Amino acid sequence: MLIPLLLAFFSVWPPPPVMALQRLTSGDYMAVENANHFLISPNGTFSSGFYRVGNNSYCYSIWFTNSFNKTLVWMANRDKPVNGEQSRLTLNADSNLVLTDADGTVVWSTDTVSDGEIELRLLETGNLVLMNQSQHFIWQSFDFPTDTLLPGQRFLKSSTLISMRTQRTYLSGFYYFKFNDDNVLNLIYNGPSLSSVYWPYTMVLVFENGRTPYNSSRIAILDEMGGFQSSDRFKFNATDYGFGPKRRLTMDYDGILRLYSLDEATGAWKITWVPDGRVDACMVHGLCGDYGICEYNPFPSCSCPPGFNRADSSDWTKGCKPLMNLTCESMSKEVDFIQLPNTDYFGYDWSYAQHVSIEVCRNICLSSCECSGFGYALDGSGQCYPKSALRNGYRKPDLAVKMFLKVPKAMVKSTMDTYSNELNCSMETELVMNTHMEGGKGSKFEYMGLLIGVVVAIGVSEVVFVGFGWWFIFRKRVREELVNMGYVVLAMGFKRFSYDELKRATKNFKQEIGKGGFGTVYKGELDDGRIVGVKRLEGVLQGDAEFWAEVSIIGKINHKNLVKLWGFCAEKHHKMLVYEYVRNGSLDKHLFSSCSLNLDQRYEIAVGTAKGLSYLHEECLEWILHCDIKPQNILLDEGLEAKVADFGMSKLFREINESGFSKVRGTRGYLAPEWMMNLKIDAKADVYSYGVVLLELVTGKNASSFRSSTTGDDGGCVDLVKWIMKNVEDGEVGKVVDQRLNVEEDQMKKMKVLLKVGLQCVREDRNLRPVMSTIVELLACCEEPEEPDVHGDVYD
Ligand SMILES: *[C@@H]1O[C@H](CO)[C@@H](O)[C@H](O)[C@H]1NC(C)=O
Ligand SMILES: *[C@@H]1O[C@H](CO)[C@@H](O)[C@H](O)[C@H]1NC(C)=O
Ligand SMILES: *[C@@H]1O[C@H](CO)[C@@H](O)[C@H](O)[C@H]1NC(C)=O
Ligand SMILES: *[C@@H]1O[C@H](CO)[C@@H](O)[C@H](O)[C@H]1NC(C)=O
Ligand SMILES: *[C@@H]1O[C@H](CO)[C@@H](O)[C@H](O)[C@H]1NC(C)=O
Ligand SMILES: *[C@@H]1O[C@H](CO)[C@@H](O)[C@H](O)[C@H]1NC(C)=O
Ligand SMILES: *[C@@H]1O[C@H](CO)[C@@H](O)[C@H](O)[C@H]1NC(C)=O
Ligand SMILES: *[C@@H]1O[C@H](CO)[C@@H](O)[C@H](O)[C@H]1NC(C)=O
Repeated sequence: MLIPLLLAFFSVWPPPPVMALQRLTSGDYMAVENANHFLISPNGTFSSGFYRVGNNSYCYSIWFTNSFNKTLVWMANRDKPVNGEQSRLTLNADSNLVLTDADGTVVWSTDTVSDGEIELRLLETGNLVLMNQSQHFIWQSFDFPTDTLLPGQRFLKSSTLISMRTQRTYLSGFYYFKFNDDNVLNLIYNGPSLSSVYWPYTMVLVFENGRTPYNSSRIAILDEMGGFQSSDRFKFNATDYGFGPKRRLTMDYDGILRLYSLDEATGAWKITWVPDGRVDACMVHGLCGDYGICEYNPFPSCSCPPGFNRADSSDWTKGCKPLMNLTCESMSKEVDFIQLPNTDYFGYDWSYAQHVSIEVCRNICLSSCECSGFGYALDGSGQCYPKSALRNGYRKPDLAVKMFLKVPKAMVKSTMDTYSNELNCSMETELVMNTHMEGGKGSKFEYMGLLIGVVVAIGVSEVVFVGFGWWFIFRKRVREELVNMGYVVLAMGFKRFSYDELKRATKNFKQEIGKGGFGTVYKGELDDGRIVGVKRLEGVLQGDAEFWAEVSIIGKINHKNLVKLWGFCAEKHHKMLVYEYVRNGSLDKHLFSSCSLNLDQRYEIAVGTAKGLSYLHEECLEWILHCDIKPQNILLDEGLEAKVADFGMSKLFREINESGFSKVRGTRGYLAPEWMMNLKIDAKADVYSYGVVLLELVTGKNASSFRSSTTGDDGGCVDLVKWIMKNVEDGEVGKVVDQRLNVEEDQMKKMKVLLKVGLQCVREDRNLRPVMSTIVELLACCEEPEEPDVHGDVYD
């Protein structure tokens, strides 16, 4: 009687391997070699033991016993697998659970202590727990999720789901699901050199996504019925809502968060929820790497533009590399453009123009090495987006944008030849997501893959050079318009760094390269080899969320005459900004200490600075005052082109309050009179300081330490501005010009323009001072008139 019963039981429920453990008690261990050394939950849903991740490497893990291929839900040591022999998981007598490698090194441990006897158990929920005799949890795996959240597992402030690196690589990947500093659940791409939020939709306010940033409890839970609820008001139900199916919410390796239900009959997983339509895998920044193009087709796939090959055939995030080196030299000779219809690369806008023709946009891009290509809107708006880097490529049949990639002429030619031959071969196209869809349709997707390969054909045609033209630039950017185009200058190429990363980069803040009112700047080298200036801010009073918000506004600003902000760090009291490193240091060193600058160079510096400030004042999305313009804050790159540093500080330090009044800041000698009079501060205060810099460029004298032999009417000291004005009124212009300069006759005009504009800028009545964009125009009149190219430079 008993035997048939037992047999019946076993035929319905395959017996767990005989020796599976129910618990691990103090002093016990599990050995990697022993196939019977694994824990099983009371009803057998979950198992926990050593899981093979490579030829001879194992991770201590928890998996669904009955799913096909043992779906992992948790790993102890995902980034440090242990050897297939002699590795052990031991529950020490001192209550610490320790994972050791073959050579005895501790790879992972719970660092727990307890007075009484404890044991390790795997619960039916999938929670691996250390508990004492009164069933109190001393440690639980639910507190340390890897890429999966199980029903009943609380998702907290400190929790993060981190994707696997690739479909078969269990290492921590780059996609994160977590509560951001603004209390909202986000999907974030956190790659080696950039990070960005890609869900919820970032182009609209948080409320429009149905979220709230005001509940700081930051807690979310997936319940047994398949309902998910979070403190930011985000909630959803599984499509098969109700008790029954076993579920998991997983941050998948392709950057999409998915809820799955297990089909117990086949062991296959069925997707029962994905984020709303606006999370488009193609919008996952970094998915296809440099130059790579993502296309929804109907599932996201990456490809390289013609003339480019995959940089690493196993990893799309490495992107594409050109068949020919794209150096500035190779490009300066014979440049051409590869055209990609219906394609755009998001972010990295190096400049922007509206109501211009394609030819004009081309010329803007041709005018600088920094431009790697441009996007041009085909909807009649004449919008032109020259770009400094081509990342986050995206192709959609209805996208009214054409992309032009800047490449050497020779490359376009060879691409034309080989490309036309290869049209019937599969292009570098791969379906990234096919294995994640419901089972049984694989072949159809493979067929789609082939189809995409055949169909994708990109017209490559020689671009005709058209003569330079003049164009009008409309300076006001209309935000809505940009959003409609799907084109907001995103905070991309912008990363949040950890304190440890920056400490390492700067070798513990060793090499100081500058000091200012807000902190000290150190030179450093990032893990990816980029040289940076790291500014340690002092006295930031803002909370982290506010700081992050302000910093990301500054991070969006991208102009060749402004020092680029690459990222920031906000960890407890450590607040830091990470800037591009500008090789030639600040203007004061070149102007006051040595005399290495000739008049032409000084003039170009004046023009560059004006363009940078004009962009800040009038064109960037957030209107920003600098408030501390002086030669120390104007940096010079290899080509002595000016880059304004330290902008946006007034936002971070809130020195200008809501009504525009401010406590006096800035530097003696450069302050506009209205600072002293406690008037509302506006952009004209920056214009004044800029004017002083112009006068310094003319005289070579330092305004902040200027002492004149003459005294003023009131017997006091005379500042540089008054001294110049007096001499100019007296007709002694020659006296104020830097004696170290040899100004030739034909250069006199430049000198006069600098002096004249400088004096206009430092007028007492700020209504009489010109605005920065007018200054750019005034200065443009003397920029090498024989080269129309240079005048074309006034686009920004
Ligand atoms: C285990 O299975 C039995 C029988 O199906 C069920 O009654 C019990 O509730 C299950 N236990 C858990 C913890 O799910
Ligand atoms: C794993 O083993 C296979 C076959 O035994 C071998 O081809 C492969 O190179 C090995 N991989 C590694 C990383 O050792
Ligand atoms: C299970 O793993 C095998 C071998 O790694 C693979 O071929 C198969 O597609 C996997 N099945 C599922 C459903 O993931
Ligand atoms: C288990 O731990 C809890 C909390 O530390 C403690 O209050 C309780 O006394 C412990 N029980 C035993 C049997 O040690
Ligand atoms: C915040 O969220 C938690 C969890 O959803 C909820 O219990 C609490 O009432 C919320 N607080 C407020 C002020 O809405
Ligand atoms: C989920 O289903 C439950 C029960 O039908 C319902 O009360 C709840 O509002 C649903 N939640 C969502 C987000 O649809
Ligand atoms: C590209 O540059 C690298 C080093 O800068 C050089 O080794 C390589 O030969 C160049 N390739 C071509 C095709 O010019
Ligand atoms: C297409 O494929 C055939 C056979 O592989 C090859 O001979 C031919 O050159 C390819 N290209 C074109 C444009 O037909």
